Amino acid sequence: MSAQSEGGEAPGADASPQSPGAGPASEVGDADMASTPNAAAPVIAIDGPTASGKGSVAHRVAAALGWHYLDSGALYRLVALMTLRDRLLGEDEAALASLAVRLPAVFLGGRIRLDGEDVTDAIRAEDIGNEASRIAVMAPVRQALVERQRSFRQAPGLVAEGRDMGTVIFPDARLKVFLTASAEARAARRYKQLKDKGISANLADLLRDLRLRDRRDATRTVAPLVPAKDALTIDSTGSDVGQTLERVLQAWRDEKRKQA
Ligand code: DC
Repeated sequence: MSAQSEGGEAPGADASPQSPGAGPASEVGDADMASTPNAAAPVIAIDGPTASGKGSVAHRVAAALGWHYLDSGALYRLVALMTLRDRLLGEDEAALASLAVRLPAVFLGGRIRLDGEDVTDAIRAEDIGNEASRIAVMAPVRQALVERQRSFRQAPGLVAEGRDMGTVIFPDARLKVFLTASAEARAARRYKQLKDKGISANLADLLRDLRLRDRRDATRTVAPLVPAKDALTIDSTGSDVGQTLERVLQAWRDEKRKQA
């Protein structure tokens, strides 16, 4: 497995998941497979392409509101990690789906454990991201993860980020944001993140991989990466995380005012 980390999409390994009082949704692990979603809990869906900054923004929105947080990409990455470790599984969609449905993952205190092993950093590797994108085109795998994702919907609310949060998993989300940025800006951000971590990277390679992944995520037949019809598109090219966060929070305040 490559040691290269993709960085940006992760909300920050040291960041504790948030949910004052109720205990963070990220602390649900195996138990969440059985927990019933709370349909009354509001959802903010934040979708967008790779390295759009949605991980950082979604995490901060959840923290600001004191809501639960779902990093749906982490679930695909966990399945990808298991696939890479067991090559025999690789092409067998049914086997992958049954693995996904009983994914032995626990989200606790900002860390992710798979069968007891801390894989928080391992799942951010570039090859895991590419493999996640590959298995994410498989309908049975996507289906197997649906209930798991919905079980994160608990009071007082959920901020869910991914590719199909607003279109497939939470079509009734109160606010849907499609966060994007130019491919060049996203590649440059990732390049900087890698450099900051002391990892050597090539900007042209990053840009090429990112475009490839964009194309695969956007053109797959099941749950392609497209903005929901009722999504607010925010282009963060030229904005920093704080500015983007403020735009999302303002959109949420506007939404609440409309409903009041
Ligand atoms: O957001 P991310 O980079 O961690 O996601 C990794 C891959 O998982 C991404 O290339 C596509 C897939 N994915 C998906 O298909 N649907 C989601 N809701 C989240 C991620």
